[in-house]
Amino acid sequence: MIEFLKKIFKIKKNSYMETEIYEQPDVINNLIKKYINKDGTINLELPDNIKKTALIASGSSYHSASAAANYLRDKIHCYAQAYYASEFSQVENIDVDSDTLYIFISQSGETSDTNKSLENVRVKTDKTLAITNTKNSTLYNNAKYKILLNAGVEKSIASTKAVSAQLFCLFLVAGKIMQQREMPAVQLIEELKKIPQIIKNAFEFRRNIQDYAKTLANYENAAILASGMFYPLAKEGALKIKETAYINTTAYPTGEFLHGHIAILNKKCAVISVVNNVNVEFTIKVLKKIEDDYNSDTLVLSAFNLNLKKSDSAICLNLYNDIELLFSALIILQLLACETALFLGRNVDKPSGLTKVVK
Ligand code: AGP
Repeated sequence: MIEFLKKIFKIKKNSYMETEIYEQPDVINNLIKKYINKDGTINLELPDNIKKTALIASGSSYHSASAAANYLRDKIHCYAQAYYASEFSQVENIDVDSDTLYIFISQSGETSDTNKSLENVRVKTDKTLAITNTKNSTLYNNAKYKILLNAGVEKSIASTKAVSAQLFCLFLVAGKIMQQREMPAVQLIEELKKIPQIIKNAFEFRRNIQDYAKTLANYENAAILASGMFYPLAKEGALKIKETAYINTTAYPTGEFLHGHIAILNKKCAVISVVNNVNVEFTIKVLKKIEDDYNSDTLVLSAFNLNLKKSDSAICLNLYNDIELLFSALIILQLLACETALFLGRNVDKPSGLTKVVK
């Protein structure tokens, strides 16, 4: 009946991508209920005494891995390295370290490079963890330890709700390692509990995002600049924009951009800058240089108002905590990709030539 009425009145149906973006507060709430106990302990089964981690994944799942690796290394001093599954799976007779937890991340659990990587590792160690959205997938069945994302079926080819769920679960793994080491994890747990509301707050910027999407839609090239664990986030934003809007978007670490890459702005190229709370003065210097020397349309996503002279668009998120800022900026970049693609008339759920699972 509803479908019939929709046809009659030509009511516009949201894309799966939009629907899935808006499901994220519920997805994260479910993870909080499932994996954070009332007393603040983390309800995950992991091996004891994890000294190091290796995180292996593809595409968006790799970006979650890479952001988490950054956090594990810099914030809790647990050695962590992220690997592209397509590269990791090619190493013959891989050296496996008995102190390392090997973490394989995949929405589908059926990506062949990720599964092959797990195959190569699990013959040498049982310290293998699958983080996946798909129960009884190959990845899920073959790993010793398992975390289910419980995000519901993700239909859109561009992954959104699975990415935030992966990131969230990886922060839980970090919290679990902290608890194993008897480091205080209370603050991290409190920050994680706020994420559903942080995501809802990010939805409020949809009008600003639509405005910039109209600008971005005029460009064939874009650059996204960010630092630290926000650099993998920039790569995720770039992948979303490429996949859905087909705009050639590249992520750069903010400081590295000055080392020659900035010359790309001599061609028409939009710039998006994600500014977190570290090294702000240097980032402002880079943005001023872009303003002074080039004529790019710039979108600045920042924790606070940077008072740039003629920055074309700015979204000030008022967030001073990096984990909160990370989730907020992730949602904004997902919406920006979706809005830009819709503005260009693309089919965001089924980008030309792409499939949901790469086998
Ligand atoms: C994400 O938007 C992409 N469609 C793609 O990069 C995807 O994340 C990648 O193929 C990995 O898929 P998986 O998580 O199912 O292993």
